[in-house]
Amino acid sequence: MKTFNVYNRFNITLSKAEGVYVYDENKQQYLDLYGGHGVISIGHSHPNYVESITTQLNKVGFYSNSVNIPIQEELATKLAEQSGYDKHQLFFCNSGAEANENALKLASFHNNKKKVIAFKGSFHGRTAATLNITDNPKLSAPININNFSVDFVALNDEQGLVNAFQSDDVCAVIIEGIQGVGGLDAPTDYFLKYIAKCCKLYNALLIVDEIQSGYGRSGKFFAHQHANVKADIITMAKGMGNGFPIAGVLIDQKIKASYGLLGTTFGGNHLACAAGISVLNTIQKESILENVEKVNTYLVNELKTIPKIKALKGKGLMLGLEFDFPIKEIRDELLHKHQIFTGNSMNPNLLSLIHI
Ligand SMILES: Cc1ncc(COP(=O)(O)O)c(C=O)c1O
Repeated sequence: MKTFNVYNRFNITLSKAEGVYVYDENKQQYLDLYGGHGVISIGHSHPNYVESITTQLNKVGFYSNSVNIPIQEELATKLAEQSGYDKHQLFFCNSGAEANENALKLASFHNNKKKVIAFKGSFHGRTAATLNITDNPKLSAPININNFSVDFVALNDEQGLVNAFQSDDVCAVIIEGIQGVGGLDAPTDYFLKYIAKCCKLYNALLIVDEIQSGYGRSGKFFAHQHANVKADIITMAKGMGNGFPIAGVLIDQKIKASYGLLGTTFGGNHLACAAGISVLNTIQKESILENVEKVNTYLVNELKTIPKIKALKGKGLMLGLEFDFPIKEIRDELLHKHQIFTGNSMNPNLLSLIHI
């Protein structure tokens, strides 16, 4: 059987990963400034992470949400301490798209409305509802189109936002803390505050997608916290499990849970929570947020000395280097000549560094 050929892969096979490095089958070392697409948050094969998952596997590997799973509460308690959202509730799921899908459903259950405001350049996933709010029509099959009404507003366009609110039916605004796939553009602090204000005024919910920009990558636990804004719903995935599939939705107290409202077989399983707990423990023990700031200062100072870089985007260690020519050649050269993994985006001129 052949695997369904949808990925344009580098011809590299990894046999080991440790800290900021990965190694191919010939023991060639690569510096990983890509983190397997913004996933690695505490380093590859971190010893605490390996130990936490292994210990859990030797106890209970999996059981569904039909029994008590105390390790879920343990993760929730740690997340409350570190995320700044100690009063929010936590729903576990398995991937970023699933987290956003559930976030949209929750908003719509809550206020019984259907229209969503999203942003130009957004990427929120490839499931039915998330494709509708992703600004890339090429990804949608006919069956996905027009599930519900969406207005795509340009980032930081206050008038555009107000215009989009002019129908009564706006259920939610969804925005990435920093756009990942789109090309590292981000809302200004002022614009995020403005969105939060409009959401209150028009009885809509603010959903911040922190799937790529969360878990410390920007230097704060969530990127939107640079703006001192509180969201009603926050979605998380990638960094949450450092590679183990786990995702979550943080939900404001005003949104009430009821049996059967949401659900998933694998969400919050024992192994995923063991991975998630070790990530949070390590972020705290190793002062990773402070380290992000330190490395950012060094890196930005160095990058500013490179005249070909026309703009620096992003925050912390989620950075975009914009040139005035396509970066494909540079990216290939970094990988094959200098053994450095970097990322790309929808912006062909932007090289991204998404690391720890
Ligand atoms: C901001 C953002 N939201 C959602 C997703 C979708 O996550 P997943 O691929 O886990 O479904 C991604 C994936 O790249 C993302 O960057």
